[in-house]
Amino acid sequence: MRRVTVLAAVISGVALVLAIPQVFAAEVAANLSNGEKIFKEGKGSVPACTSCHGEDGMGNDMMGTPRLAGQISQFLVKQLEDFATDKRMDTTMFIMNANAKGLSPEDRRDVAAYLHLLSKEELVGGGSNIKELVASGIQVGESHLGMSLVNYGALERGISGCRSCHDYNGRGVDPIYPKIGQQKFVYLVNQLKKWRDGSRANDPLGQMRKVAQNLTDEDILNVATFLTNASPLTIGNTRVPEQHPFMSFDTK
Ligand code: HEC
Ligand code: HEC
Repeated sequence: MRRVTVLAAVISGVALVLAIPQVFAAEVAANLSNGEKIFKEGKGSVPACTSCHGEDGMGNDMMGTPRLAGQISQFLVKQLEDFATDKRMDTTMFIMNANAKGLSPEDRRDVAAYLHLLSKEELVGGGSNIKELVASGIQVGESHLGMSLVNYGALERGISGCRSCHDYNGRGVDPIYPKIGQQKFVYLVNQLKKWRDGSRANDPLGQMRKVAQNLTDEDILNVATFLTNASPLTIGNTRVPEQHPFMSFDTK
């Protein structure tokens, strides 16, 4: 069985690795082959994750499942723990609580590390196809209005800019703030409504509920329409911060 540290797996081959002090190489060994096996084949009564989240882990609008590929691994571990302890309830397909309970803490960590690395190279094109959604009768919003809310919020209505926590175009901040850019549209809309009505309440310090309680239905459609295709790259920059060699891919 292959057991490697994720950090080493990501940056091996890069000359700079030699210059990185040992302290940066987090001592967290994730068993990536176990993670891959769970993702593709499931485990015991837990079905393969691919059956709902897609072969590539990019999520599915028709099922309301999220993109998992490339998501911050510690955030994924937290979500699986929250499902396993019923702190978060899957009220979309009523399955994730049982799925998470069927995995050991090690399994959850392994699959999260595998998913985090699944699409590292795929920086654009992960979101929903808005034209297809419209064609299948799903209501969408105005991307430019969403962009404004993501960047500046609407302080007069008590809405902080999403960027202040989720970073530029929602590209996420390890370990607490998930990537919400290039997430699937339907999932984004569902979660924002769940934060707003309190049926999802696993956010530390109620941070998301405070933002969502002031969002209108239109705001939700607008931010989701913008975010699902928002690029993590700033203009003229071909790298995202997490690709900086001195930042570790901690999979704790
Ligand atoms: C039968 C369908 C189904 C299967 C199989 C499934 N999932 Fe899910 N998963 C969902 C749905 C639906 C949601 C969204 C729940 C909600 O709306 O709150 C979800 C949400 C998640 C989330 C939360 C992501 C986030 O961004 O917050 C994680 C993590 C996750 N699934 C991991 C897995 C893993 C790992 C497996 C395989 C062991 C798996 N899922 C198998 C349907 C499924
Ligand atoms: C004060 C900080 C803060 C602000 C501002 C904020 N968020 Fe969040 N958001 C969070 C945290 C923390 C989580 C993760 C909660 C958890 O652990 O489940 C989160 C989670 C989410 C999720 C669920 C992601 C997933 O994969 O399950 C969505 C969607 C989201 N935020 C959208 C937004 C949008 C849209 C805005 C702007 C209108 C916004 N957030 C503003 C802190 C914030």
